[in-house]
Amino acid sequence: MDDPVSIANLKQRMQWEQERGGPPSGFPALPPLPPGRYTDQAFFDLEKKHLWSKVWLYAAHVSQLQDPGSFVLLDIPGAPVFLIRDRDGEVRAFYNVCSHRGAPLVRDACGQAAVLRCTYHQWSYNTKGELLGVMEERDFPQPFDKSMLGLVTVRCERWGGFIFVNEDPNAKPLLDWLGMIVHEFEQFEIDTLRPAAIKSYTLECNWKLTMDAFLEVYHIKGIHPQTVGPALDHRGAVMGLLPNGHTRMTCPTNMPPAQQRELRGYGDKNRNGMPTVAAGEIARNYHVSHNIFPNVITPVGETARQFLMFWPISLTRTRVEVVHFGRDWGDGERPEGWNALLAFWEIVMAEDLQFLEWQQKAVLSPSFRGYRLSYMERRIYYAHEAIDQAIGIEHIPEHLRVEPRLADYVEKPEDHAAEPLRRSGAIS
Ligand code: FES
Ligand SMILES: [Fe+2]
Repeated sequence: MDDPVSIANLKQRMQWEQERGGPPSGFPALPPLPPGRYTDQAFFDLEKKHLWSKVWLYAAHVSQLQDPGSFVLLDIPGAPVFLIRDRDGEVRAFYNVCSHRGAPLVRDACGQAAVLRCTYHQWSYNTKGELLGVMEERDFPQPFDKSMLGLVTVRCERWGGFIFVNEDPNAKPLLDWLGMIVHEFEQFEIDTLRPAAIKSYTLECNWKLTMDAFLEVYHIKGIHPQTVGPALDHRGAVMGLLPNGHTRMTCPTNMPPAQQRELRGYGDKNRNGMPTVAAGEIARNYHVSHNIFPNVITPVGETARQFLMFWPISLTRTRVEVVHFGRDWGDGERPEGWNALLAFWEIVMAEDLQFLEWQQKAVLSPSFRGYRLSYMERRIYYAHEAIDQAIGIEHIPEHLRVEPRLADYVEKPEDHAAEPLRRSGAIS
């Protein structure tokens, strides 16, 4: 994405998208998504069993686990997991489940502990999860092998400072699974980022409605007329479908960065002390947002990158979490510019989230005939295809499946530079 051929290709492609009279020739009509995908408990249960318990999920940033013994309790629905930096400096993930009768070892959102003590009957563990002490050990059948009763490990791997967990011991390594994302993010120097704020919103709707809302820019003139709408030219947006369900959106902007800062109300020319996030030519001059499958949408701006995440609490309840990352500002409080940026984000988030609970009622209603998607909204269709692939199409009742249509439009590492245009019909 940041080599000369890819840059030229993306610029040419944005122009082509702006000027096209319709979808590229041969682009398939996308069948409406079945409403049951958002309303059927059986589908939700399939997601839980085959998707959430087998995929890499963002857990925390390494700066939240600075010293040996520092821990973070994760809030991943259905996965009682915590992270801890062990005494040798390695970050580990464990189920927050005492080997005696399942009480939690960690109850605070974060903290520091040299020894993890279950407060129910006082079994204790070290930072490597090994069982150290059992109260009244004499009452258990002897000999009692404590080495078999350590905390159960969860896979935990790092991409720069981002820590991901995966409950599936057989999943491919995180960096392999991220694939092209890793290469594309080299320009962003993600090691220089750190979280400046975390916000949470709970909505009465299925998690996929929240995900869908951030996978397209078709809506920006409708619901963001005074915020991000004027800055972006949605007609030129280029959607990159990447392997493993990940995607990229590149959208032309109508305004130079200084004017955009003005519109957002958070910028003097020094950005109120906020250091600039590293980025290559495309990300500096256009709006770029990736989807790390299944539940991270990560737009990048001049001074911040967000991880927007969608966590299913139940079939019709979702927690949307936004982690705001900025370039490390050094010692002391975060720069003043963050206050205005976060205030602006609150307005934009309220705009983005406003219809989701209405849509949940709509998909439940007999009047709803299917969830219709245009060419410009194809990232949504692709994400749903990837969900079905993760579940295994054979497990999904026929009336809830998404018919695969987009396999021919997925970019591959080897044809990264040239293929998107060729596949779109923009070049031959
Ligand atoms: S449940 Fe932890 S010591 Fe009993
Ligand atoms: Fe939006």
